[in-house]
Amino acid sequence: MPTILLTGSSRGIGAAIREQLEARNVRVIGHGTLDHDEQTVGANLADPQAPQGLWEEALDRADGEVDVLINNAGLFEENRLDRSDIEWLDAWEDTLRINLTSAAQLSRFAVRHWQERGVPGRIVHIASRAGHRGDSPGHWHYAAAKGGMLALHKTIARAYAAENILSFAITPGFTDTAMAGDYLASRGGPSLLADIPLGRVAEPEEIAQIAVFCALDAPDSMTGATIDANGASYVR
Ligand SMILES: NC(=O)c1ccc[n+]([C@@H]2O[C@H](COP(=O)([O-])OP(=O)(O)OC[C@H]3O[C@@H](n4cnc5c(N)ncnc54)[C@H](OP(=O)(O)O)[C@@H]3O)[C@@H](O)[C@H]2O)c1
Repeated sequence: MPTILLTGSSRGIGAAIREQLEARNVRVIGHGTLDHDEQTVGANLADPQAPQGLWEEALDRADGEVDVLINNAGLFEENRLDRSDIEWLDAWEDTLRINLTSAAQLSRFAVRHWQERGVPGRIVHIASRAGHRGDSPGHWHYAAAKGGMLALHKTIARAYAAENILSFAITPGFTDTAMAGDYLASRGGPSLLADIPLGRVAEPEEIAQIAVFCALDAPDSMTGATIDANGASYVR
């Protein structure tokens, strides 16, 4: 079975992905901001050097071979336009770095790792409905990062399919984790839920099921695909 580097496995969707992968006997190198346990590498992705440290530590723990990368870690923090210029810019830079640049850095390390060995590899990107549809006025940065992630994903899929390096993206709508909980509470949950024909937000286990499928089971011909999971709140 493959070895998988999974960012943001400490809670939420990442923890659900980890649990389902481990149930299939996959070796998971987990990650969070801090070292949560022996199986979790701590790396604050707001630091530009952290992705390289994380990749090297993951390779060490994986005896030199990582087969799948799942870019799941992410931040969703409001950035109001009326903040000071420097506060707004700092928040923009942090979100872009954590949600997009670090995923690109890790993807680059993974692609080069597989190319050097001439072996297949897979990347799964946990993007967002926001990457298609945009987000609230306080979340320009989040939507831009997730839209960028989708473009990154498509580029990787098209560039390296001939080398059996495949890329998949998932675009969840609201999912029942701390990330969505804070937002739903602050914006009045019931009216937002009215926009979701399914009548509820997604469960992290549902998004995990899709991620595990992409990491382990999806046929090669699906490379480049983006899978929506939003209760039909945004139908493309
Ligand atoms: N929940 C939703 O409604 C929703 C919707 C669409 C897309 N998504 C995407 O799904 C992914 C997982 O989200 P979630 O709902 O599971 O969020 P969550 O419960 O808030 O978990 C976020 C994860 O990312 C990690 N993380 C955050 N900032 C980090 C940083 N600076 N450095 C390293 N790790 C960091 C966290 O690590 P720590 O535990 O160490 O903080 C945690 O493991 C994200 O990419 C998110 O954008 C979520």
